Amino acid sequence: MRGDPRVDAGAELCTIFCMNHALILTRTADHVRKLLSGDSAGHDWWHIERVRRVALTIAREERADLFLVELAALLHDVADWKFAGGDEKAGPAAARQWLESLDVDQPTTDHVCLVIAQLSFKGAGVATPMDSLEGACVQDADRLEALGAIGIARAFAYGGWKGQAMHDPELPPQPHGSFEQYKQNKGTSINHFYEKLLLLKDRMNTAAGKRLAQARHEFMEQYLQRFFAEWAGER
Ligand code: ADP
Ligand code: NI
Repeated sequence: MRGDPRVDAGAELCTIFCMNHALILTRTADHVRKLLSGDSAGHDWWHIERVRRVALTIAREERADLFLVELAALLHDVADWKFAGGDEKAGPAAARQWLESLDVDQPTTDHVCLVIAQLSFKGAGVATPMDSLEGACVQDADRLEALGAIGIARAFAYGGWKGQAMHDPELPPQPHGSFEQYKQNKGTSINHFYEKLLLLKDRMNTAAGKRLAQARHEFMEQYLQRFFAEWAGER
């Protein structure tokens, strides 16, 4: 899964001819921070900052290209399909427009946009393979954000934003077999645990991602046990 040699060569050329990497990252972080500062559906700036941090931790262990990982992490949610009328091309297109406005070289832009295009979870029955090691690191980091204490908080924040019930014992979880079904989901936040969150630990790409996911998964299982015990009036 190592990066395409053309991409590596492009990245080297970029350090010589284009705006330097540190400046690209600073400008991009400022841009994304402004874009996402008002979000209350789980995609605020601090989500991006956490994904950036954990993606870099994973990338160091994997020896992935840190610049590409950081850039993709920063741009991965600039135009999520959930907030762009279901258009899954909106994210990569917005990232491309931004990178072109900075004159970032073509291989870097293509690599980052491909990572963003492949990143999203698309339903329990839909595979979402990543074509590069950098993409694998960013996907794992983004998925870790849907797990553990933060993942639980984000699920209920998203549910509130969407106006869906927290839990309804008469509505069973749906095993979405296609991205279309997943997009049209009208479930509850508790069902989302069974439709996505509890499936993620077995879909991580990297060793570090798997390790971190396991601990966050166990915490969510404890949380659900407690939730259902309280729901039943047992605790
Ligand atoms: P990501 O930032 O990983 O791309 P998403 O864009 O899929 O995550 O969603 C943002 C957050 O909202 C995630 O933590 C996700 O698990 C949660 N979420 C997405 N869909 C639902 C849903 N139908 N019900 C509850 N939470 C959801
Ligand atoms: Ni995200």
